[in-house]
Amino acid sequence: MLQFENSAQTRIYLDHNATTAPSKTVLDHLPQMISEWGNPSSIHLSSRGPKNILRETRKQFAEIFKCSSLEIIFNSGASEGNNTVLKSVWEKFGLEKNEYIISQIEHPSVLKTASYLQTLGAVIHLIPVLKSGQIDLEFIKNKINSKTALISCMFANNETGTVFPIQQISDIAKKNGVNNNILMHSDCVQALGKYEIDLAALNLDYATFSGHKFYALKGCGILFAKKNAPYANLIHGGGQERSRRGGTENVLGIASIQVMLQELKYLNQKISQMQTLRDNMESEILKKINNVSITAVESERLSNTSSLVITDVDGETMLMSLDIAGFSVSTGAACSSGSPEPSPVLLAMGLTRNEAQNSLRIGLGWGTTEIEIQKFISALIEIVERIRSIDTSSKENGKQNYV
Ligand SMILES: Cc1ncc(COP(=O)(O)O)c(C=O)c1O
Repeated sequence: MLQFENSAQTRIYLDHNATTAPSKTVLDHLPQMISEWGNPSSIHLSSRGPKNILRETRKQFAEIFKCSSLEIIFNSGASEGNNTVLKSVWEKFGLEKNEYIISQIEHPSVLKTASYLQTLGAVIHLIPVLKSGQIDLEFIKNKINSKTALISCMFANNETGTVFPIQQISDIAKKNGVNNNILMHSDCVQALGKYEIDLAALNLDYATFSGHKFYALKGCGILFAKKNAPYANLIHGGGQERSRRGGTENVLGIASIQVMLQELKYLNQKISQMQTLRDNMESEILKKINNVSITAVESERLSNTSSLVITDVDGETMLMSLDIAGFSVSTGAACSSGSPEPSPVLLAMGLTRNEAQNSLRIGLGWGTTEIEIQKFISALIEIVERIRSIDTSSKENGKQNYV
């Protein structure tokens, strides 16, 4: 018999920027969702339910984000979406218009695709990040020229929570490009469910979303590609998604996104709930633990994210101690955890290697409670004290050995 260990049962999960547990509503709808297992491309009756799920999800997304349902492509998630966007633009313009302006702190699915395009002849200008966590808008203006094909900047950063001025960057793209034709992409993964996104006002050509960061299931995402924006298939195959993405759609995942789109009616309430908890948590940590700083605190941040630097406390050691104590947090991006290298995002912001190595990321979720935060603060205080005292005594012992 298959056995699954439910590692989430007794845990306090504070890593919602890495992934989210499917919401209770998604879980409640699972049996009904699974019962629609037919292939949406079939023409017999078994396809009707799945087809309906695709149609309704597209319609609801288009209504909420004020776009056309034809501008929505279901895919496997944001890595696929980001790859598709950059490669589509390259396929359209190639060497003719080969310059890309991309923020230095994008997710690897953007940065590594850009590096790949570089091997084909693309010129990549990485927008530097200021100590505040904000990107340098002047840099964008200075780099734009007649060869600029695309500007790509995430809506909010996964590690620090910094929210970027996407509308302003879009304006720069549209006003400064030759014939207003610089394309604009934003990876909106971290914003969905944490920030009110007005897609129409942002004037984007492309936006990428992922289900599993938003209490839906893993392996499903949405790519918004504006009508007439260049598009090239990443996956060739059947005629799914109007022949823009081959492969039978992940109906179950898409159904879970549909459920979550309906939950967006609670967004403002969830944002203020998370913000109150996060702000109280930060002020209590600052009060009770000395030598702590909050990264990017001067910038607008997502309501749920807190990135701390705790002096003289190694992030990995802290993470492991918290893990043993029953708390899931992160030291940086989940995909780079376990790597001894400090977070490139924090380094890009001008933090020293040491500061970056002493960092901890806490990501609250829609379901995080006051009690969980109180338990987390108590555990953190104890762990920081312990690590600092071990460090001090080993330094003292070290000194004695050499005296
Ligand atoms: C900002 C950002 N973009 C893209 C991704 C990749 O998303 P997915 O897991 O859906 O491929 C992530 C996930 O870590 C992310 O945080």
